[in-house]
Formats: sequence, C-alpha cells, structure tokens
Amino acid sequence: MKLKKNNFPKDFLWGASISAFQSEGAYNEDNKGMSVQDIKKYGDDVSDFKVASDFYHKYKEDIILFKEMGLKSFRFSIAWSRIIPTGDGEINEKGLQFYENLIDELIKNNIEPIPTLYHFDLPLSLQEQGGWNNRELTVNAYLKYAEALFKRFAKKIKYWITFNEQNVMIMIGSKVSILNGSQTAVNEKELYQQSHNMFIAQAKAIDLLRKYSTQAKIGPALNNVCIYPDSKKPEDYLSAQNASIMRNWYYLDAIVRGIYNPIAKKYFLDNNLMPEILDNDLDILKKGKPDFLSINYYTSGTVKENQEDTNKAIKIDQQTMFDINGLFSYSKNEYLGKTEYGWAMDPVGLRITLREVYERYQLPLMISENGLGLSEKLENETVNDQMRIEYYHQHIEQLQLAISEGVEVIAYNPWSAIDLVSSHQGFKKRYGFIYVDRTENDLKELKRYKKKSFYWYKDLILKNGDIF
Ligand code: BG6
Repeated sequence: MKLKKNNFPKDFLWGASISAFQSEGAYNEDNKGMSVQDIKKYGDDVSDFKVASDFYHKYKEDIILFKEMGLKSFRFSIAWSRIIPTGDGEINEKGLQFYENLIDELIKNNIEPIPTLYHFDLPLSLQEQGGWNNRELTVNAYLKYAEALFKRFAKKIKYWITFNEQNVMIMIGSKVSILNGSQTAVNEKELYQQSHNMFIAQAKAIDLLRKYSTQAKIGPALNNVCIYPDSKKPEDYLSAQNASIMRNWYYLDAIVRGIYNPIAKKYFLDNNLMPEILDNDLDILKKGKPDFLSINYYTSGTVKENQEDTNKAIKIDQQTMFDINGLFSYSKNEYLGKTEYGWAMDPVGLRITLREVYERYQLPLMISENGLGLSEKLENETVNDQMRIEYYHQHIEQLQLAISEGVEVIAYNPWSAIDLVSSHQGFKKRYGFIYVDRTENDLKELKRYKKKSFYWYKDLILKNGDIF
C-alpha cells in the first residue's frame, strides 16, 4: 500500500494530562468534601492522595513550565467534591474559583484547558448512599455538578470530557474494585447497572451542555485498546472479537449510537447481567451524542479461546486483560516488550486502536492519556528518562501514520505533565515530563525539575511533530 505521510495539522493540540486526585493535594482545603480517593491507601510505604504533587498550590509555577515546554493544551480533571462537597448539596464558590483561576491562567498562557468532569473521584457521601447504584441520586447529582461547571465555564472551554475510563471502572471494578470508588467487591450485575446509569448521566450532560454553548465540544475518555487473537485459530479470533466488544464496543455503541451492542446484550441476558433500562433511556442516549471520542492508551490486549480457571494468578489492573468465562481468556503476547511495571509496550497498537475506533464511529479523536511509568532518580537536578523519550517517539510516529492513513486526531495529551501519585502504585511510579521532588512518605519541598523528556517534547512541539 502506498502511503503519503501527512504532517500533523497546524492547529494540532500538543498537550499533557493530569487528574485532580492524583496531583492537587489540598484534600480538605477551601471546603472541599471527601472523595472516595481521600480515604484510600495502598500500604504504609505507598503515598496516599492527600498532598499528591500539591498542584493546588503550585499550579501557577507549573503553568510557567508548561508554557516553556510549549504545551498547546492541558487536560486536567475537576474534583467534584470541591465544587459540591457532599456530591449533591450546596455549591462551593471556593471550588469554582480555584478552577476559574486555573482555567484563566491556562488561557492567558495560550494553553487550551481540557477539563474532565469525573476522574475516579466520586464524592464520598454519594458513595455512602449507593454511588452509581443509586441512579436517582447520583445521576442527578452529576447533572447538577455538570451544570454548575457549564454555567460558569461554558464560554471559556472548547473541549469537555465527561467521564474518565468508564470501561475501566466497570471492568476492573468487578475484579479488584480499586478504581470505581468502592473498596468492597461489587457484584457484576450491579456493575453493569452502574454502567448503564453512567451512560444516562453522560448523555444527559452532553445534552445539557448544548443549552450553555453551541461551540463547545464534549466527549468521553475511554481506555480503548485493540485486542489481538493469540493465534490464527478461528476460536481465538472470536475471543478477540468478544474481548473487544466487552472492553470497547459495548461502551462506545451505547455512547455514540445509543444502542446496546447486540452481542454484549445477548451475553448480559443469558448471564442475568442485563441492567434495568427505563422506557425513555435509549432516546436519552441517542440524544446525547458526543462530538469527539477521547482515548487513553497504554497498551494493547491479547486473548485466546476461553478456558476456565486459566488465569487465577494474574494480577489485574487497568491495562491487563483478564478472563470472562465463555468469552475469552487472557494471553501473553510474546511479540511485545514490557515496561518496568509489567505493561506490554505496543506503539503499533495505538495506530490500530485509532483506526478501529475512527473507522467505526467517524468522530474526531483525541488522545487524553498515553505514557510510561518509571521509577526514577534525580541526578544533577534532572532525570535522564531516555526510555520515556523512546516510548513517546514510537507512539507519536504511529500516531502520525494513523493520521496519514485518514484518521482524524485533534490532540495528544500524554500522561503526565508532572509527576503525580499513580492510581494504585504510589509516587515512585513516575510519569511526568516534570519531576516532583518527594518520596512516598517524605514530602520535602515538592520542588519541580525538568526531565530530559521535557526538552525532547519541547523540541517536538516546536517542530509540530515533524521529527520522523
Ligand atoms: C489510567 C488512569 O488508567 O492510567 C490514570 O486514567 C492512571 O488515572 C493511568 O494514573 C496510569 O495508571 P497507574 O495505575 O500507573 O497510575
């Protein structure tokens, strides 16, 4: 196939990403309520989220560095429990003011603010009343929260992200329940009901935004990944289709097309997992169609024909595939290298994922996360993170190829702008272009240092990605 290489579009958004609970700290300041993340701790020698990178107090200092790096966009999340401390009660002006200051500071520095409404940090009081199981309460609370943000910021924000990784919250929630806000295992039927309730909340929020802005664009960020069959055995191919349905298409079909994917639906019905769908629900989904789709990509998945009880020993997190009895089983991909933390590295998989999602839905795509977690050492006031540079180099090259093949991508926001607390592996697993000087338990001064990748990314942005 002859492929003419395209340059990145002139207005391409080269950015970086963070989330509120993993970076802000200030967990109980300015009337912030507790979120489900504020009560989590993964062990004595693993940082909690109370101070994190202290972005709440240091955001201006950080934005100076973002500007120096040349960032064109910055994807962050808004802490629901700062805006409405109890989740569905009074609105906290101090919370709105913090984000207004942050947004204004970004705009002043020509950096496009891309806020995510909800990134794993459900207000604790909602969780205590059933969380996403309690449709009436939590869907309405999400809408009230979204409306407070739309009212205040609709004119300043061009791109909104509704939910971070609904698919991870649901899929992993059923296995280890680390990210969906509840420490106790939830049964799978409940999870698919929660997922349905999230679809409704999201569609209604999308519809609501149209009241406040005709210009702003809105969409979800899912952890979509391409899935390979373990072999050319037809049964393995079928299992890869199944895995893709359960990880990708069941979510995106509901969000984009307002339908339940037929194969997922039959599986839910046969296994007593079908959520309650109210009369009007599918109309609500159809009405709240997103303008773009955002993808968090770290790795691909590989599966084989389902064999019961094959993978009891696998340590599951958001990037590892798992088993669903009757549908697929996890398989190792020997063609792919692994990161220090055990995730398979697959830059070509990013291109495949972008092509698959774009071909299927033909909505503009954004990348809201992509990155490499490493344990690192500060030496001579910098970090030599050459491995991260190589990781980005390879992924961005594939991104350019996907664009050259006809996929519309508008932004690349790698994870993460600054070092922050990993969602479940503490502070030593670092992702940033900017080093934050602290350890798991010693906060030191939380001073910032530019890593080698900072300069590399700066140069890449300056050349608008034209380095291949
Ligand atoms: C994504 C999440 O799944 O992966 C982020 O949206 C998370 O919140 C990122 O930090 C990397 O994962 P981890 O567990 O290494 O922090």
